[in-house]
Amino acid sequence: MIRRTTLTALLFALCLSPLWAQQERGFFYANMDLFSAKSLMAEYPNEITLLDTKAGQAAVYMSDYAAHRLHDNILTHGPGYVFMPSREKALAQLEFNNTVKAKSSFAYTLTESSLVEQALPMVEADNIEARILTLQGYGTRYHNRTTAETAVVDLKNDLEAIIAAAGRDDISVRLVDHTGTPMPSLVVTIPGGELADEYVILGGHIDSTAPDRDNAPGADDNASGIATIMEVFRVLLDMDYQPKRTVEFMAFAAEEIGLVGSFEIAQDYNNSGVNVYSYMQMDMTNYNGSANDIYLMTDPYISSGLNAFVFDLLDTYNGSGEHALTYGTSICNYGCSDHFSWAQNGYEVTFPFEASFSGRNPNIHTPGDTYSVSGTAIHAVKFAKLGLEYILEAAKSELLSTNSFTQQTLRVSVSNGQFSYNLPQNTAYNSVSIYNVIGQQIQTNRLDGTSGEFALRSNKAGVYVAVFTGADGQVAKKFVVN
Ligand code: BES
Ligand code: ZN
Repeated sequence: MIRRTTLTALLFALCLSPLWAQQERGFFYANMDLFSAKSLMAEYPNEITLLDTKAGQAAVYMSDYAAHRLHDNILTHGPGYVFMPSREKALAQLEFNNTVKAKSSFAYTLTESSLVEQALPMVEADNIEARILTLQGYGTRYHNRTTAETAVVDLKNDLEAIIAAAGRDDISVRLVDHTGTPMPSLVVTIPGGELADEYVILGGHIDSTAPDRDNAPGADDNASGIATIMEVFRVLLDMDYQPKRTVEFMAFAAEEIGLVGSFEIAQDYNNSGVNVYSYMQMDMTNYNGSANDIYLMTDPYISSGLNAFVFDLLDTYNGSGEHALTYGTSICNYGCSDHFSWAQNGYEVTFPFEASFSGRNPNIHTPGDTYSVSGTAIHAVKFAKLGLEYILEAAKSELLSTNSFTQQTLRVSVSNGQFSYNLPQNTAYNSVSIYNVIGQQIQTNRLDGTSGEFALRSNKAGVYVAVFTGADGQVAKKFVVN
């Protein structure tokens, strides 16, 4: 009798216990490429069952042990698998994977050179270093350890403080809870002013792993990517950047156990019809392991159109001069990080990486993945610059959306190369930036009271826009030089 009660209690507890708890001692569903599935089956026949295959992909039911073997023994990392919450989902995803080819319809323009030139010198290696050190300081961010959650919650508090200090109540930070892990993900949103339903995303994972789950500093994999993303955000905040498209920064939970956080979010966006214009992944940015600075991954699930845009950014803004850097290409050969989750959900993705695949940091997934391996954040700075170029050109700036008509009392005029302004008495604008018709910023001047004048730096005939900025927000006025 007692035995049966115990058994019932045990079964009951098993049913109630969340997936991640069961996962530590059991089997789970996943998708992976067929070749990896077959090699695992050959080596560990009791640890993996093939459910179905389609066009080189497999839906499997496999043990934690098999997953650990994949992670820890075979290649240190990879080949990858994507955790699936149920048999149905694993099979359905298999169907879906084969109907979605990497899109490459990406259409873009490069128009934001003045903002890019303003942004690049603002990147500070010290900020990146500090954040990598903070993140590795948790000791482990393995997805089911409490310090993993603490790291995400602390990051949220930190971001909320800098957003409040910048006076930006339009920007929000939210935690996303998951079904496949107790660890939350974090999403920062800057709503777009004109194309708010088109999303430009920069993301990476914040969890870590190592054979000893309690000693997983994950400095390069992937405190470096998170620190890089957050420096991009800080610079944009300092510029008082207002995008046309909605911009999101994401820090994903539980990538290391099968892309759990990113897959749940990408699937949710896909299910709710969110229009993701572009997705860029930052995973491992601070180990300078190959001849070139940045390697763009070109796996078949990556958008060649979005990659063309990134190559164009690198040629245009990093071809020579102070911010010059070199680039090459490489491939993972499998769904090696969160960008794969977005690709699987039909979105265009790109993944700039710290080295060629073979030149990658050999310390990842070990207690040796610490900041001291690189000792500086100079390599990650290059990725922060590319991240800024990506956001500024993909999401664009809203500044040229003139709202002159609502501000009749704000007057500007130009004569003999002098720009004069006359503002309503009760307004609080403190600077004005002048743009030409192709969006290049020509100058910014501080305002001296509600009326005044200064010399215009361009004497070319044409239409210009003056954007006044201050506590009241922004207002733009067109004017003509003739
Ligand atoms: N940062 C790695 C991915 C990576 C490693 C990319 C080396 C390029 C070169 C990522 O955190 C990771 O470890 N991914 C897993 C796969 C995932 C599906 C569990 C891996 O590679 O084992
Ligand atoms: Zn990893």
